[in-house]
Amino acid sequence: MSGASADLVAALAALRAEAEALVGAATERDVLQRLRTEYLGRKAGRVTAILHDLTSLDLEARKVVGQAANKAKAAIEALLDAADAALAARTLSAAADLTMPSRHAFRGALHPVTLVVDEICGIFRDLGFTRVTGPEAETEQYNFTKLNFPPGHPALDLHDTMYLGPGTLLRTHTSPVQVRTLEAYQPPVRVTIPGLCYRRDAWDASHAPVFSQIEGLAVDEGVSFVDLKAAIGYFARRFFAPGVKVRFRPSFFPFTEPSAEVDVECQICHGVGCPVCKGTGWSEIMGAGMVDPAVLEACGVDAERYTGYAFGMGPGRIAMQRYGLSDIRMLYDADVRLHAQFVEGR
Ligand code: PHE
Repeated sequence: MSGASADLVAALAALRAEAEALVGAATERDVLQRLRTEYLGRKAGRVTAILHDLTSLDLEARKVVGQAANKAKAAIEALLDAADAALAARTLSAAADLTMPSRHAFRGALHPVTLVVDEICGIFRDLGFTRVTGPEAETEQYNFTKLNFPPGHPALDLHDTMYLGPGTLLRTHTSPVQVRTLEAYQPPVRVTIPGLCYRRDAWDASHAPVFSQIEGLAVDEGVSFVDLKAAIGYFARRFFAPGVKVRFRPSFFPFTEPSAEVDVECQICHGVGCPVCKGTGWSEIMGAGMVDPAVLEACGVDAERYTGYAFGMGPGRIAMQRYGLSDIRMLYDADVRLHAQFVEGR
């Protein structure tokens, strides 16, 4: 190796060591950028300059110095790249606020009416009731006739029926499933029947044209009104509160005799009177009564041997009581601000 080329190779080694030390000490990406220009810049870079000067050397020296210069260039470049990547990563994590809460993933929730339906059916399951369902599109026969509604009875109007065609309709209550159950099974029978019902009611704070009901039916030997009161009382104490007040008011339904309407003390004002209970202090939660023997006979059940009770409650109204909702339409609005409160584990 000639003296000139040896000097240049030594100079390159020195440059490389110098660059290595400076890159290692750099704490800013700007500094690295400046070092890159200083050593490798295309015009005035100190390593580049040596490559430019190769033309003044003879062939042999050119080869030796050229190789050394390219090696030094590649080594410094690799150092700069690695240091720059490390600093970039550090800057990123410094900018991130590690105390910032993670974004909340909305998980979805069961509808408040679904929660109430499941809870009610669960309480009655403990009393031996099986959960069954029936069709929403019904015939007049099942919705009315077999339930002892006489033709032309005013109750037909009260129900504001949505007809699908002659003799077919959207059920106005879940009671037709009482008939379907008794036609399919001989007593003893104990069932809860949750489902949607339809009436031509206008929307307001306490009415909706589509609403859910839970029918209850118990038919066996020796079933009396006492059993009905006991079952409803047990349900109310478990669902609302151990000391909740329950009252039965005489009422009328074509398919029960005697019939009653059942109220619980308003859970929002506790009897004082508020807009939700319309100032009465009571909230009506269901209709109930002893199954009319005529209904049992129409279903092929021996009414001399068997008696039964039935009830039909409104889980929508009950959900309003439970969650303090003043307008039934809130149950239909699908407003995330309401439903997010029912996400489990919040
Ligand atoms: N089906 C009645 C209604 O929708 C409620 C009811 C059910 C009453 C069972 C008595 C017994 O109004």
